[in-house]
Amino acid sequence: MKVLIVYYSTYGNVYKMAKLVAEGVRQVKGAEPAIRTVPELIPQSVIESHEDMKAGRQMQKDVPLVTLDDFKEAGAIAFGTPTRFGNVSAQLKNQIDQLTPLWFAGALEGKPAGIFVSTASLHGGQETTPLTLMAPLLHLGMIIVGVPYSVQELLTTQSGGTPYGPSHLAGQESKREIDLQEATVCRALGRRLAEIGLLLQKKS
Ligand SMILES: Cc1cc2nc3c(=O)[nH]c(=O)nc-3n(C[C@H](O)[C@H](O)[C@H](O)COP(=O)(O)O)c2cc1C
Repeated sequence: MKVLIVYYSTYGNVYKMAKLVAEGVRQVKGAEPAIRTVPELIPQSVIESHEDMKAGRQMQKDVPLVTLDDFKEAGAIAFGTPTRFGNVSAQLKNQIDQLTPLWFAGALEGKPAGIFVSTASLHGGQETTPLTLMAPLLHLGMIIVGVPYSVQELLTTQSGGTPYGPSHLAGQESKREIDLQEATVCRALGRRLAEIGLLLQKKS
């Protein structure tokens, strides 16, 4: 079963989280991750004039763009985004808006979905971003999967990691590395999506 990990990332933090979610998926027999990104909306001239944005693009140059078939074929889906004013990025939302044909066909109904996010500041969207992104996923009929408190890192973290989904505190310059606790919560989401996706496949 394929677990689609679809994300947007400007500077690379959410991309690194996507790779950790993929590690969690790989821990489950019968599941394999597929990491995909979405079209950029920032003008190329703006990217070219910012070294950190250019580095972020370069890091992700080999990641394929997601297709509607990727969404159809997936047994579970993880959505990753940096926070933008406490909310989902326009790039990921733009892709979700293009799921309308699948919405009309009910093609995503019953698929488990998880969310992972990165923010610059500790209280600037770690919780509002996953919670608000849940609304469109519920419209699409997806079953929201979070991370339970049996993952001890949710209790001990001094940075990212929420029951609504993994999160990363990237810091003001978006350069803070993902720490061990944040990474553990990322892997836990990947594992859980894979396990629940496989269970649901068996039932249908
Ligand atoms: C337009 C814009 C709005 C942002 N809004 C927030 C915000 O509300 N709260 C916050 O903590 N960080 C905010 N950030 C910072 C990003 O969330 C941060 O750079 C991101 O998590 C880094 O992820 P990336 O490396 O995957 O791009 C904003 C950044 C931009 C460009």
